[in-house]
Amino acid sequence: MLTENYLLPLHVNSTTQIMLKDKIEALKAQIAELKADNEEALEALRIKYLSKKGEVTALFNEFREVAPEEKRELGQRLNELKNLATEKINALREATKQQAKEQNKIDITRPAFPAELGTRHPISVVRKQIIDIFSRLGFTIADGPEVEDDWHVFSALNFAADHPARDMQDTFFIEKNEQDVTRNIVLRSHTSSVQVRTMERQQPPIRIICPGRVYRNEAITARAHCFFHQIEGLYIDKNVTFADLKQVLLHFAKELFGTETEIRLRPSYFPFTEPSAEMDVTCMLCGGKGCGFCKHTGWVEILGCGMVDPAVLEASGIDSTVYSGYAFGLGVERITNLKYMVKDLRMFSENDVRFLDEFKSAH
Ligand code: DAH
Repeated sequence: MLTENYLLPLHVNSTTQIMLKDKIEALKAQIAELKADNEEALEALRIKYLSKKGEVTALFNEFREVAPEEKRELGQRLNELKNLATEKINALREATKQQAKEQNKIDITRPAFPAELGTRHPISVVRKQIIDIFSRLGFTIADGPEVEDDWHVFSALNFAADHPARDMQDTFFIEKNEQDVTRNIVLRSHTSSVQVRTMERQQPPIRIICPGRVYRNEAITARAHCFFHQIEGLYIDKNVTFADLKQVLLHFAKELFGTETEIRLRPSYFPFTEPSAEMDVTCMLCGGKGCGFCKHTGWVEILGCGMVDPAVLEASGIDSTVYSGYAFGLGVERITNLKYMVKDLRMFSENDVRFLDEFKSAH
């Protein structure tokens, strides 16, 4: 009994010791192999091994049963196990953090989104086409200010102070002088002002075009806008005739709208030209047969023109007994509408990418 009693704890102890040693080794092997992909998996491992009810902690409870003489060795092994588990879990935590960081990083090896190419604005496309045609004929580009004085927009172009023609254009006034209209400052209502500026600086021969923005006090609708673009043309030299004007305009129309295109000049009135005309081209939709677009006339109007009035030459310091010349002025929006069938003028200034994208192939 005594022996038994004595032996029993010894037996229990040594068994516990052997089992504990094995369990420690088994756990060590297990822990060395642990893996965790994310925070949750890692936390589950921590709980499985190191929490109060964890497997490592459980071995510490068993350790209490170990015989005193074995405690030293087993205690050491147990501490090693605990350290191993703690270190492994810490290492896994670092690794998952790093992994999360990597995932947030920009992957420079990924294929890029296709970079969209911009397009030229349709007004720029057509302005360039027009400029190119006239450049080939020897016209150079002249420029002038958008904020202008009365002289360059009206007076020098033969609009008398009380001339009803001033009412032809609704003008934006920067400074308005009720007593003396010649002191007005305005946003230019046409690019004809650049004719005057050029003639003031330069003696003939003059062969220029002036592309630019102009302003009119109009309600904005599908057919009118308060700003738009014009290109003015001016040719002054000795013996320039109406036939020269007609020849250049015919060439221009054929270049711009196609060689089949014909032109028609109708008498008109502008204060700065005499005679004056408006030019029509054969309708680009029906080729002149007549359709809804050209109101069944076969023709569409594209510009105003004429022989520069001698009074305009004189006002700018050019001797009208020696020189003569022609001028013309066209609206870029109008021509763009005709070329690309744009129905609403407002499309040009709204910057709707769906509209602008349609001009990708134009150049
Ligand atoms: N300035 C005119 C307008 O804005 C257009 C024009 C007509 C210009 C005849 C000219 C011309 O040079 O000769 O309506």
